[in-house]
This record gives sequence, C-alpha cells and structure tokens, in this order.
Amino acid sequence: MNLSYKIITAITCMILGTGVSNFCKAFSPINVENYVSALSPKKTIKVEKKWLLLPVKNGAERKRLNIFVDGEKVRWIDIEFAEENPDWYAYLDISEWEGKTLELVVNGLTEDAKEFALIKQSNKELDKNKLYDESMRGQIHFSPKRGWNNDPNGLVYYKGRYHLFFQHNPYGSEWGNMHWGHAVSKDLVHWEEVGEALYPDAYGPVFSGSGVVDKNNTSGFGTQENPPMVVTFTSSDAWIQGIAYSNDGEKFTRMDHPAVEKITDGNRDPKIIWYAPEKKWIMVLWVEKENKLNTIHFFSSKNLKDWKLTSVLEGGKEDDRYLFECPDLYELPVQGEPGEKRWVLNAANGQYAIGTFDGETFHPEETRLKSVQTEDYYAAQTFTNDPKGRKVEIGWFRTKTNSEPGNNFNQSMSIPTKLELLQTPEGLRLSRTPIEEMKKLRGKHHNLKDISVDSVQTDLDIKTDKPLELIADINLKTSRSITLGIRGVKINYDSTRKQLNVNGKSAPLVSNKGVLHLRIFVDRTGLEIFADNGIFYIPVSVNIPQNNKDISFKSDAGITVSKLDIFELDSIWK
Ligand code: FRU
Repeated sequence: MNLSYKIITAITCMILGTGVSNFCKAFSPINVENYVSALSPKKTIKVEKKWLLLPVKNGAERKRLNIFVDGEKVRWIDIEFAEENPDWYAYLDISEWEGKTLELVVNGLTEDAKEFALIKQSNKELDKNKLYDESMRGQIHFSPKRGWNNDPNGLVYYKGRYHLFFQHNPYGSEWGNMHWGHAVSKDLVHWEEVGEALYPDAYGPVFSGSGVVDKNNTSGFGTQENPPMVVTFTSSDAWIQGIAYSNDGEKFTRMDHPAVEKITDGNRDPKIIWYAPEKKWIMVLWVEKENKLNTIHFFSSKNLKDWKLTSVLEGGKEDDRYLFECPDLYELPVQGEPGEKRWVLNAANGQYAIGTFDGETFHPEETRLKSVQTEDYYAAQTFTNDPKGRKVEIGWFRTKTNSEPGNNFNQSMSIPTKLELLQTPEGLRLSRTPIEEMKKLRGKHHNLKDISVDSVQTDLDIKTDKPLELIADINLKTSRSITLGIRGVKINYDSTRKQLNVNGKSAPLVSNKGVLHLRIFVDRTGLEIFADNGIFYIPVSVNIPQNNKDISFKSDAGITVSKLDIFELDSIWK
C-alpha cells in the first residue's frame, strides 16, 4: 500500500470518526493509529547502535512516545521526557532494527523538539564505572540497573542458571510501562541483569506471572533433549493470561493466543507448577469477583497451552486482603515428621493457608496465617526446579532508593530465603531462613562474647560501612526494654509485651527460655530481621546514611549478649 493511499485512508477514518473504526481496521492491514502516525510530526533515526538513549527528568510531565518501524508501532513508552539537563538516560534496545529507520512520535512535539535533540545512540553503557556503587544502591539486594521494579516474576532454574524476571519500568523511577526485566545468577546471590525479556504488546503491558521448565516437552515448544522454559504472565489491557517460551533462556516467543481468557477485569498473576502425581500442570490465578471478593482460581493442563478450571477458593473481601494478588502454591515436607507433607497457598501480602491439594482443589486446614510482619515485603514468589530441591522465595523489598533527586533506580528484591514448615505449639507454621549461599558474602568476622550491657549505651568498636550480617544471642535477664542500635536504626525488644519494635513497626516475638536469638542483614537501603527459627521475619525499608557506622546495645535492667557474630559482607555486584 503506498503512502498517499495510507494518508487518504487515515484522513477518511479520522473524519468519519470512531463509528467506522472497524471499517478502517478491516480495510487496512495496519491500524488507524499507524496511519495517523504517517501524518504526525516525527523524528526519524537510523538504527546504527544497540541502544537508544532516552533523556529522563524525574517529575517532568509524562509523555507518550510511540515508535514506528516500517509503519508498524513497535514500542510505546510513557516517559518523563527531559527538555534539558536530563537526570539520566533510559536504555531501549533497538538492535533488532539495525539498518532500519525509527519514527518517533510524541503528541505535541515537532521534529525539532528539544526532547528529541537530546536522544542518543550508544553501543556501550555510559557511566558504567558508577553503576552498582551509587550511594543509594543496596549492596546485598538485587535492584535494576535503571528504572523501577516491583514483583519478582518467572522465578525458575534453567540450564545451570537461576532466572529472576521482574516487573520493570525501564524508563522511569516510578511504576509504569510494565515489562519483564531479566537477571540471571549461578548462585542466587550474584545477579547479572541481561535486558528486557517481555515488552508490552497489543494486549497490553506485561503484569506478573511465573516460569517453569517443561522437562517432558509437554508443550511441544522444545524437544525432549532441549526442554523449553515456559513463562506465563498477564496482559493487562486485555486481562488475558499469556504464555511465552524460550529454548535458550534468553529470547522469548509468545504463543499467539491466550492460555486463559479474561474472567473479570483485573484478573492476574498466574503461577504455574508441575503436579507430579497426575503428570499435569496447575495454574493458580487471582480473580476478583462481585463485591471485591478475592478468589483463587485453580486450573489444570496437560500441555501448558489448554487450561481447564477445576476449582475456586474464596479469600477476603474489599479491604480484607487475604488471598489478594500474586498467589503461590507449593508443597513442603513437615520438619520432624518424616513422610508428612502439606500444601501452602500464599498471596501477595504474605497471609497464607496450610492444607492439602488433590490436583483440583485446595482443602485448607488453617487459614489467614500471617508470615511477614511488614508491608515492606510483597508479592513474593518461589522458584520452580531448584536443583537442591528447596523452596526458595524472593519477595519485592519496597526500598525507596529514589528519595535522592535525580536517582535513576528504585526498589529492590529481598534476599532469597528457604521456606520450611515447622511444628510449633500453635500448629504448623511457615519459616523463612536466608539461603546457605548468602554465606558466600561473608568477609571479615568479628566474634564477640559475653558483653554486659546496662542502661548506659554500650557502643561496639566496629567501624565499617560494608553491609553486615549480625547474629546475636541476647540473654534478657530481668530487662523489659532492650535496644540494639544499628547505624541509626533502633531495634527495640519489649519483653513484657513480647514485641519487637523497629522503625515504627511492631511484631510479636517470644524469646526462647529468656534468650533472644536475632539474625539481621544490614544494607544501605534497609534491614531484614530473622528470629524464632525463621517464623519471625521482618524486612524494614529504611535508607541508612553511609557515614553512620554505629552499633550499640542498651537495656533498662541489664542484659548479657552471650554471643555476637558480626560479618562484614561483600557486595553482590562484585
Ligand atoms: C502486585 C501487582 C500484581 C500485578 C503487578 C503489576 O504488586 O499489583 O498484581 O501483576 O503488581 O505491576
């Protein structure tokens, strides 16, 4: 179709309006918007390098940038476009269009707009020497090179590497433009970010989902010898659940039709697992029903492509967030009872149920259990196919790293934890402990014993700005208030109320025969506190100034810190 014909058709469609949009669509191989682009002022750029660098000014008005190649809209981006002095550059991989011409269209901008003039192309990452050592960069928590992250997605071990996909806005330090960012690791500790795995398409931005290895090639997307990785996600304009596969863990191809059609607006976050007893796949999906009722829909499939609904479980309503968003389902052995197992159904806020699962229906035995004590941890997901057979979880750690003006990355992931089901006097409970691999980061060790502490603050002479792992056994004696100060953050234990208080947050915690055992990871962007064999887990998002190196204890009536191991930790980025 030649350009003048395109333009005439576009003008006709524009004059006749939306009532004939089907006519317009039916008569043209590309949609009206593409025609309209032919008429709009645009900036053209010949693709010569790997990345297009887009200038961002944090807080500027968000503008919609549409990019066309050969008349097709290939990317659309909401961006706080800088007119001058960009705070930072967002990187868009354009290598697939090498030698072609990009047409950039922004409503209201002409070809000579200042925003367009600031755009560059590059083959190498600018400012790479600063990357990962910025003052607000968490050193033991994964965060994206640039842009915003929220939920971990598609957690899977495939061909010798762990894959961490994540909800990513590559072009801004706040939520938006949901892509699946992608990072890989050989040890779950050191991560390398490798670029975007899934981009928004005609069905919409790509919301959360999960990943599996299709070992028996049930989908036919690979071969028996080279089984595919299969990921599932929500397309958030159409509200359908999509499937994509990869044969190398790098490039992804989408299945051309939805795996699960829309049930209601907003249904999302499919998590898929293999159900070995019946050699089939299970999907759990969050679906909001009438009166804002949270439900988890259970589906099964023999081939990952065709899904059948098997049951629906109801959770909370309206503000009651029990079973809201990002469900996860997994089976765990009961510690101390050989052969005993239970299924856990978890959702975004960490409230969970324990029960049995027969391949179609989850039968809860205990519900509404609270495992995470703050909202700084959200939308956690477990890895499938862990080579060590563990259930390893990563959650979105809601750190606030854009609090410094001009910062170009925001949010992070928790450290990976191993999940277990422990027997307690109250019944079975989920516990989280940092994975063994975290010990790889341990460097210099300070080993202290029998420190007597009273109401005068005892300061430790350990002065480092490195991340820390701190393991303490605190003999409470008759003290009612014990405060551990770490780099300005006060962790207070109230032994009368049996409650730990930190940074305005409180959570119940009992001591074991008068001894409080704490394990704390300290980063520039927050703390993760583990106690009570991992049943107590409290992540705290707080920015810690790098010049504050203080560690201290204080108590009202005297305590003994019988053991204190402090490890200076190496950075995960080195
Ligand atoms: C949870 C969530 C998911 C959704 C995603 C969008 O944080 O709201 O339910 O898929 O974030 O980014």
